[in-house]
Amino acid sequence: MWATPLHRAFRSSLLLRNTIYGSLILLALTTLMYIKTPTSTTSIIPHYTQPSEPPRELEDVSIAEWVRRSVQVKQAFLHAYRNYERFAAPHDELKPLTQGKVDNFNGWGVSAFDSLDTMLLMNLDDEYTRALDLVKKVNFKKSEPRFVPFFETIIRYLGGLLSAYALSKDQILVSRAQDLAKALDPVFNKRTGMPYYSVDPSSGETLGPQLGILAEIASLQLEYTYLAKLTKSKHFLSRSQTLMKTLSSANLQHTGGMFPIQWNITSGEPFAYRLSVGAQADSAHEYLLKLYLLTGKKDKRSLEMYIRATTHIINNLLYLSPTRHLLYVTDSDMPTFDRASSTTHIFEHLSCFLPGLLALGAHTLPLNNLTRLGINLDVLGNEKLYGHVGKGYHRLKKYNLKELHMWAAEGLAKTCWITYADQPTGLGPDEIMMATVHKNVADANGDSYLWMDALDKWKKSGGHGVIPGLADHQPIIYTEFERSRGTGKGHDYELRKPGYLLRPETIESIYLMWRITGDWKWRARGWTIFEAIEKQTKTRYGYASVLSVDTVPPALSDSMPSYFLAETLKYLYLMFLEDDPVSLDKWVFNTEAHAFPVLV
Ligand SMILES: *[C@@H]1O[C@H](CO)[C@@H](O)[C@H](O)[C@H]1NC(C)=O
Ligand SMILES: *[C@@H]1O[C@H](CO)[C@@H](O)[C@H](O)[C@H]1NC(C)=O
Repeated sequence: MWATPLHRAFRSSLLLRNTIYGSLILLALTTLMYIKTPTSTTSIIPHYTQPSEPPRELEDVSIAEWVRRSVQVKQAFLHAYRNYERFAAPHDELKPLTQGKVDNFNGWGVSAFDSLDTMLLMNLDDEYTRALDLVKKVNFKKSEPRFVPFFETIIRYLGGLLSAYALSKDQILVSRAQDLAKALDPVFNKRTGMPYYSVDPSSGETLGPQLGILAEIASLQLEYTYLAKLTKSKHFLSRSQTLMKTLSSANLQHTGGMFPIQWNITSGEPFAYRLSVGAQADSAHEYLLKLYLLTGKKDKRSLEMYIRATTHIINNLLYLSPTRHLLYVTDSDMPTFDRASSTTHIFEHLSCFLPGLLALGAHTLPLNNLTRLGINLDVLGNEKLYGHVGKGYHRLKKYNLKELHMWAAEGLAKTCWITYADQPTGLGPDEIMMATVHKNVADANGDSYLWMDALDKWKKSGGHGVIPGLADHQPIIYTEFERSRGTGKGHDYELRKPGYLLRPETIESIYLMWRITGDWKWRARGWTIFEAIEKQTKTRYGYASVLSVDTVPPALSDSMPSYFLAETLKYLYLMFLEDDPVSLDKWVFNTEAHAFPVLV
């Protein structure tokens, strides 16, 4: 469908834009062609004829230039952190527009804790020493406000301390990690091992609903397993193991073996059936693979749950957009094997960690021969247990599973990147709503946007040409004029939450794609995103979140989250280094980009 006049018009407009940027004649022509082109709605299973070509604006550069770029990221980190120190420490985060400060994560100085390992990786000894002084002084029994949110505290504070220990071997970091974990320990439901939302570290009182959110109750295994190893504590290890036992024995019949978002903390059972890999779910899926890797590939139960989750995601949650055939992941309510009719077709920036995770799995697991690990897809997808949902497991058996996971990773990462490249700011929106030709998929004469349907069809017709969802796309950047005329449908999506909150997920996946495939185009894309961050978000006193990615210059909001220092800048820095100091075979990143060594 790339061959429709509509798209040729966009493409030629793009080609010429560099040379005759702003030419009104061209714009008028493009607009005219756009208006005249009928929107194609007939067949949504596309013809994959678009030739694969790397985007023109990207090119590889010399090693010396990559070194220079990594130094530039380090400068960016220093600009952000030194202004945090100057205006906000020992409070949590800097307000980069007003030189203010905010205590939004317990008031213990979250930006300092979150930045420790980034400093160590960047060899910023002075900053590290000063941050360590702050870390030593914090009283974990006194927080502002009184109740401490467990999940954020674990991934940012505990994760930060443990990773900094792994890189520095400063013993004080282990004892601080232990202090913190002890102060939080009353948060757990004794029987299920699931934590409540928050805890008062001084009294041990817990606060939070009986219904927990998946990401918040099931993203602690890496931190507690590593902490247990460092402190030789069976107690901390049991915090991870009790939770894993509860998760693995939960009844997942209705969700095909994938964890839904809502859980009853008291019973340890799912409460409702909404499935997502985005907000409220993301890191729980991530930790299944990563616990297996952290334990030196020993925790097989965790791996099985990862295979179940990804099998369900690939079968039911991956879709192609109608015109550009962008591969994306969305959510579903009561999923069925034939149609996931209750999907929202919302694609979240938060979900952009998934391509990196799938690539990491394909890189580290013998997906082609799971029987070698004693894992059998037929048993995992037991139809007696999972009913029709179990059929999805057999469907994937027709494919080379390693290849399939890599295809999904490649296609999804590309979509994450293009949501940046399509914007005049070069920054990606927080949430988009994908276009659907047929409002009701179930009515669509058997057509479907499900990626697996398109793949099956492509495979059946001989598997020639570009794999569905993997075609190289040219970005489409609309000018203000075009946008004022209501153009924008050619993107295949609308901006639902148009802000860029300095988030890391797309960069994280691009970093992993670069390390795993060695294809320089990923690194080049990472660089263009960094340039956009420099250009659009840098302020005199730090870096600020963007309110709307489709306006130049964008309006900014007075916020610089600590994950910008912990994750966004760290992954960018690592991406531009020649030799990775935290290689993927020896280290595992927690969901806040804190690196833990594989335990042997
Ligand atoms: C959660 O599970 C407990 C124990 O089975 C039960 O008593 C309670 O009603 C459940 N809560 C909800 C909201 O379903
Ligand atoms: C898979 O692994 C098993 C056990 O190591 C081995 O016997 C078998 O030959 C392998 N199969 C393939 C297709 O590599």
